[in-house]
Amino acid sequence: MKENIESVLQENRRFEPKQNFATQARIQADTLDDLYQRAEADHEGFWADLARQHLSWDTPFSKVLDDSQAPHYQWFNDGELNVSRNCLDRHLQERGDKTALIFEGEGGDTLHLSYRELHREVCRFANVLKNAGLSSGDRAVLYMPMTHQAIIAMQACARIGVVQSVVFGGFSAEALKDRIEDSQAKVVITADGGTRGGNIVRLKDTVDNALQQGGACVDTVLTFKRAGNDCAMQEGRDVWVEGALTHVDEKCEAVPVNAEHPLFLLYTSGSTGRPKGIQHSSAGYLLNAIVTNQWVFDLKEDDIFWCTADVGWITGHSYVTFGPLACGGTVVVYEGAPTVPDAGRFWKMVQDHRVSIFYTAPTAIRALMKAGDDYPQQYDLSSLRLLGTVGEPINPEAWMWYHRVIGAEQCPIVDTWWQTETGSHMIAPMPGVTATKPGSCTRPLPGIAADVVDEEGNSITTPNQGGYLVIKKPWPSMLRTVWGDDQRYKDTYWPMFDGKYYLAGDSARIDEDGYFWIMGRIDDVVNVSGHRLGTMEVESALVAHEAVAEAAVVGVPHEVKGESLACFVVLKGDRPEGGIDDAMTQTLRAWVGEQIGAIAKPDSIRYADNLPKTRSGKIMRRLLRAIARGEEIQGDTSTLENAGILDQLKGEQ
Ligand code: PRX
Repeated sequence: MKENIESVLQENRRFEPKQNFATQARIQADTLDDLYQRAEADHEGFWADLARQHLSWDTPFSKVLDDSQAPHYQWFNDGELNVSRNCLDRHLQERGDKTALIFEGEGGDTLHLSYRELHREVCRFANVLKNAGLSSGDRAVLYMPMTHQAIIAMQACARIGVVQSVVFGGFSAEALKDRIEDSQAKVVITADGGTRGGNIVRLKDTVDNALQQGGACVDTVLTFKRAGNDCAMQEGRDVWVEGALTHVDEKCEAVPVNAEHPLFLLYTSGSTGRPKGIQHSSAGYLLNAIVTNQWVFDLKEDDIFWCTADVGWITGHSYVTFGPLACGGTVVVYEGAPTVPDAGRFWKMVQDHRVSIFYTAPTAIRALMKAGDDYPQQYDLSSLRLLGTVGEPINPEAWMWYHRVIGAEQCPIVDTWWQTETGSHMIAPMPGVTATKPGSCTRPLPGIAADVVDEEGNSITTPNQGGYLVIKKPWPSMLRTVWGDDQRYKDTYWPMFDGKYYLAGDSARIDEDGYFWIMGRIDDVVNVSGHRLGTMEVESALVAHEAVAEAAVVGVPHEVKGESLACFVVLKGDRPEGGIDDAMTQTLRAWVGEQIGAIAKPDSIRYADNLPKTRSGKIMRRLLRAIARGEEIQGDTSTLENAGILDQLKGEQ
């Protein structure tokens, strides 16, 4: 904590909004004051007004917040609406010919879909879903490349009330099977393959593999054609979408659902081995997605908005598929890797599509910064007017590069703190009003009661003193539960402070200006390239290998990825040398890749005859963390049962 306080004292740069941005912004200083005051004076009334203003209801709500089953809070729960109708139909009259979506494949193929065209494709695919026997409340798992087809499929599910769960296309068959089984999906929606880094990712093969291992609940696999690779089609189960589309109608009425109807489940890692199905609502979720697109991104009619996140993550839900479309915006969707054909790809696309709002992760910024300024300097980036970041704390050096080289010192940078669970931005600048400081996500948004508290739940009033980041009042886009596991929901998010405050799982501090600085996770979660991985999950994968007796995994700082995984392994047989070229290390890295997905592949594996444990048998991760980081072991080691093991792990024995 001391280290963090010192680093903040060194970071005293402050960037006021530029006049020309500020004067045109949706949110001006006086409107912001007004929003804060209204939210403070009447929390429920504030959200109710926004819900009436921004959502089109089939049945208006009369109740605002229902806390009778707290912490399972419900919002607007006697109202009915449809998310797809809010994203598409309501724009048809005013902006039917406006481009809703610009798609670019890795190979350079592009496609523009107007609101009218997107609406038609969504209706047609929704009819395919109906023909596959799906109806409101059924679950569908999507395992898709990042294409317009993924957006169409997501909107189509929403249109008929099918609860969707998108599984990131980088996850393995095993991880996919677990998610299919947990959600009890009837249908899997996939594609033959996608292109990434010049290779075809054979998605349908992975689905087949997953369904060989389990997933008996699935009766239909709908497969889009994208990469053109051959794939096996199982009679009676597998259907080509293009074939099914030839028989369907272009009309499909949006089905009104209750405000609380689950729009989607999104699985995220926790500190135990099993992923959690984060359950989101329809109305409350969409409301925050809309207002944050307008407040934080200043999204307007003429903007071209490119959020580079995949739809397999929450960012791709709130800032690609649902939020911007509900606002009538134009989104860019890109299938491939940022470095194909070279590290100028993003900047070329900004130039070609005249992108005005660009939102990405610090890990991408760092990687592109390393590639050098020559790439962005080859392109005309003058269309950009706002930049955003999400997923992990951004280091001031990367922030300054983004500001200087990409934003030409003209664009505000919105550093947005939020989570899969929060559904939308919680702490972020209002770009026309809030001065920014590199590395801080600035202040909570209106209506978001974020605070930093101590063990007892008391607000920490000393500036820069770290504590637990909590949210003290419910908000519309909060998660509703962990799918099928209410107890886990309570245990994970409401375990302290008498269950009154939402515990985000991050530590943070607030500086003398009221700015929030995120310090890291308080649980055993590692943030690799902006994606949360539970260390337990990787440990379970390692011990599932026949050669492994025991494993412990910790995070270590990494220049590009933010954090990487360092593993400590005890084998059943002899202890190998270790090192990245070691045969066992290669086997285990490939194994974890297969079990979870490539993002979980450990960067280093060390072997020992045992792990450092307390007398009660608990692995002392604090010590492992110090070893992995090459730091001196500090603090008390007297509870350590087998002290000699430390030297072995350090490679000194
Ligand atoms: O630790 C915080 C970090 O990412 C976590 C949420 O991860 P996930 O649910 O995968 O969602 C990522 C996209 C919203 C948080 O608990 N995090 C996210 N944004 C920031 C951040 N840390 C610092 N600054 C941010 N802007």
